[in-house]
Amino acid sequence: MSFSKEFLWGGAVSANQCEGAYNIDGKGLSSSDFAAAGKHKEGRLHTDTIKIGEYYPSHEAIDFYHRYKEDIALFAEMGFKCFRFSINWPRIFPNGDDKTPNEKGLEFYDSLLDELEKYNIEPIVTISHYEVPQNLVEKYGSWKNRKMIDCYINFCEVLFKRYKDRVKYWMTFNEINVIDYNSFFSTGIQTDNLQIIMQMAHHQLIASAKAVMLGREISKEFKIGMMLMYGPSYPYTCSPKDVLQSIKENDETYHYSDIQVRGRYSNKSKKVLEQRNIKIEMEHNDEEILKKGTVDYIGFSYYMSWTTGEGASEGSGNMSTGGENPYLEKSEWGWQIDPIGLRISLNNLYDRYQIPLFIVENGLGAKDELTEDGKIHDEYRIDYLRKHIEQMKLAVEEDGVDLMGYTPWGCIDLISASTGEMSKRYGMIYVDKDDKGNGSLKRIKKDSFYWYKKVIENNGRNL
Ligand code: BG6
Repeated sequence: MSFSKEFLWGGAVSANQCEGAYNIDGKGLSSSDFAAAGKHKEGRLHTDTIKIGEYYPSHEAIDFYHRYKEDIALFAEMGFKCFRFSINWPRIFPNGDDKTPNEKGLEFYDSLLDELEKYNIEPIVTISHYEVPQNLVEKYGSWKNRKMIDCYINFCEVLFKRYKDRVKYWMTFNEINVIDYNSFFSTGIQTDNLQIIMQMAHHQLIASAKAVMLGREISKEFKIGMMLMYGPSYPYTCSPKDVLQSIKENDETYHYSDIQVRGRYSNKSKKVLEQRNIKIEMEHNDEEILKKGTVDYIGFSYYMSWTTGEGASEGSGNMSTGGENPYLEKSEWGWQIDPIGLRISLNNLYDRYQIPLFIVENGLGAKDELTEDGKIHDEYRIDYLRKHIEQMKLAVEEDGVDLMGYTPWGCIDLISASTGEMSKRYGMIYVDKDDKGNGSLKRIKKDSFYWYKKVIENNGRNL
């Protein structure tokens, strides 16, 4: 059997990478508003204050805040069944710990949902995608402090109650495991201290479990998922040492999904923490909370696979790194392209957890050229997406994986999370803007727009 009639074809974005409007209608500052643009392949610079003369891409981004109607109409034209977006936390709670939410911020999401409903597009909401109200970072030290759990749950409660009849699918934290590699994105705090990282992660895991419990009280209809950055780590050679090392590498990712799906720190995780001298401070009912707040599905991002073992040379990726694979080609940003790795990922995750999966990010970041005929001939992007969809189809048809949907990343060009560049484009819709912030913001349909429209039309039968 191939994709069901209900298969959720769509696209994905995050608030701070597309909305812009960073300081209007009562929005507070978020940690991502302090991330300046970086250079090609280099990471972004985070400043303590907003500096004059420095370029902060999230401040305007692609101005989705004012152009969402036009953009959603284009998604509808492509035939999207769903659209994944995130809610900008300080747009709703400007300081993060305010007593009441910012009505203007909620109104924006009311209208966004109206627009989606108009075209019958199912909303898929990430509650927290790589931003924290800056006030919470400065006042409490962000997720280092357990107080964050209450702030996050207040935020969830407002969203769940307001949108209980309009949103069914939620995800608690974007790429919850990325905190291991780069703590800035989800916490606003840059640190390599593993003790701090694992404690912050524990607070997020508790917050996520509590959100699931709260969501279940508010609506029986909700499906609340986790969101994992997933890319399998292959043994570099068949030497048993490399195989063992790859198991260990992959376990770092499963640490998170085991907790969110199975409801407990695995024995192995506990041992690893012990060996690294990390002591997680827990409250007496934390274990109970984790057990009760397990997720309904696993949303995951898949961009690439890695290798690990003796002789593997270090490759480049966005949030994490790993070894290169001589069998794979790379993107312009050095990310390894591995469509079969997507089938492997689907198998690994489904075999391990046996709950529905949702590919909520996948795609090729590439430079596009606007040709004289005013078009973008992005056959390289079509080729990438086609090969990945082929593998996802095989995972469903031949391996029996229960897959809910596919939302390629940055269906409309947006700013890159890792570098802040605009020229690293993922979209099927081009946005006229450059790395310095110049451009008309005009939207142009790329060749991949027409191709993806057909794919959705025939439910993935012809690629
Ligand atoms: C994922 C993030 O890790 O990768 C997105 O969830 C991000 O926010 C995407 O944009 C692609 O990475 P980048 O760095 O190319 O934008």
